[in-house]
Amino acid sequence: MNALILSSSPNTDGLTAACVDAVRSGLTSGGIDASEVRLTDANVGVCQQCADGWGTCRSDHVCQVSDGFQAVHARVRDADALILVTPVYWGDLSESAKAFVDRLRRCEATAGDGSPLAGRWFMGVAAAGGSGGGQISCLEQMERLIGHVRMKRWDLIALCRWTREAKLHAMQSSAAALAHALHEEA
Ligand SMILES: Cc1cc2nc3c(=O)[nH]c(=O)nc-3n(C[C@H](O)[C@H](O)[C@H](O)COP(=O)(O)O)c2cc1C
Repeated sequence: MNALILSSSPNTDGLTAACVDAVRSGLTSGGIDASEVRLTDANVGVCQQCADGWGTCRSDHVCQVSDGFQAVHARVRDADALILVTPVYWGDLSESAKAFVDRLRRCEATAGDGSPLAGRWFMGVAAAGGSGGGQISCLEQMERLIGHVRMKRWDLIALCRWTREAKLHAMQSSAAALAHALHEEA
């Protein structure tokens, strides 16, 4: 079994990276193979709103814009659980996360219960390292994604600089519990 962590900060040693380490530690301690895709390095452009607004995302559940999206999409489809860790930018997902999520949603929401994502666990982390504002609105975007692609909500965790250590422990523990649940369900 495997879990895929999507991260979306350009910084390799910031708050987002600390969250990725905590989540990965929890998953691996629970015997789940956890790999990371850094979306800032994945060459995923924005949706081109093909034709009248829909392209092959609607008919074939694949994106016709050829770039780094296809490789990450394939890995998401193969994962038993998906974890999205984003810095909070403008109270929202960072741009690289938004670009990927927008295109993923189009391909998978249109597949309905036939999507491989349907029924799989999702965990989201919103790292607000500035004012701490926008944690809820960022998580709300993840909640909308979960609904659109019919994933199951494992946990949605937000943190800021003041709650950093407490929340890192919480997300490690939550990820370990997710690993346990994945084994139980297998
Ligand atoms: C364009 C931009 C917008 C940001 N907006 C917010 C925000 O709405 N709320 C907040 O608490 N921090 C905000 N920040 C700060 C980031 O959340 C903070 O730098 C965070 O630690 C980034 O994660 P990193 O350390 O992994 O880079 C913003 C940063 C940038 C670059």
